Amino acid sequence: MTSEIKKIIEKPELSRDEIIMLLSVDSEAESQLIFEKAFAIKNHIHGSKIYLRGLIELTNKCLKNCYYCGIRSGNKNATRYELSEKEALQAAVLAWEQGFGSIVIQSGELKSEVFASKIERLLQQIHHKTNNELSVTLSCGEQTLDTYKRWVVAGAHRYLLRIESSNETLYYKIHPNDQMHDFQTRLQALHDLRTAGFLVGTGVMIGLPEQTIAHLADDLLFFKNFGVDMVGMGPYLEHHETPLFEKNHLLWSESTRFQKSLLMIAILRIMMPHINIAASTALETLNPLGRQKGILAGANVIMPNVTPLEKKINYDLYDKKPHLYNDTEKIVQAAKQIRDTNFLNGG
Ligand code: 5AD
Ligand code: SF4
Repeated sequence: MTSEIKKIIEKPELSRDEIIMLLSVDSEAESQLIFEKAFAIKNHIHGSKIYLRGLIELTNKCLKNCYYCGIRSGNKNATRYELSEKEALQAAVLAWEQGFGSIVIQSGELKSEVFASKIERLLQQIHHKTNNELSVTLSCGEQTLDTYKRWVVAGAHRYLLRIESSNETLYYKIHPNDQMHDFQTRLQALHDLRTAGFLVGTGVMIGLPEQTIAHLADDLLFFKNFGVDMVGMGPYLEHHETPLFEKNHLLWSESTRFQKSLLMIAILRIMMPHINIAASTALETLNPLGRQKGILAGANVIMPNVTPLEKKINYDLYDKKPHLYNDTEKIVQAAKQIRDTNFLNGG
């Protein structure tokens, strides 16, 4: 088995069966072979550099009702907030002053003209205040092609829109089957983003109830076939106020979800050496060294949260979100420490 794994990870193209075989390993030694190969590829292509993207959680208001998410519109217990333009701008400037090359502006899905123009103005102000030195990624859900174009013109470079699962049947097990959560519309949105001129990122959750290893293999092939520019993916984590919580008895253990998430990162790095892959915050919920382990499995981006403390406590996607009560300074220091770690010397 070990010799077979060694052979597979040297191949330039992986078949579906080979991906399934890699995702199925459960021994420490075999996982380590895959992680080491992915880490070597990351270092060969991207150098030892890790990119920091400051995450600004602009608002937890959302029109959607995804079954897994704590800030879904149906959760009446969520305390809603929205950063003012001034607050968001301050967070962006803070990231810039800290030497970050980029930020991510994330929000629930809001579709109004008021929202579209707020983002537009914010982008313009951010570039003005930071000498055009910050690269901005947006993650604000499905919008019209016209809105995407406006945001590109206003200076956004990348867009993250997770497909959540590339399997349509599973997609409808974790979303309502209605017009607002239409799988084909989401696929179209990824194409529209590219048409509008964005570098496009997507991703999935790993360890969802009823998700199989074959689903995950197909997710990796989906990323490859689409030719994504970046991927952010991480373990599914339960939130006690969501419908999916009822399926908790079907979940893999936390350690399996963690291990499969690292394997997903590593196999993707082997399949797509050049893209950006984030070590997600959710990894850290399952292991205090989650992001470092993500890097050692081939990730090259981490996204420290620079949202003001009193607001972000309500960006409550899943239970036990890390750093919820840490202030920005501590978070930035921790992220810089990871960035400046010499992983090549064993960390
Ligand atoms: N567990 C893990 N990730 C989650 N997200 C939302 N809810 C959860 C959860 N319960 C992720 C989704 C979404 C991103 C903003 O957060 O993948 O795209
Ligand atoms: Fe809204 Fe995103 Fe949560 Fe779905 S996952 S309910 S779109 S914030």
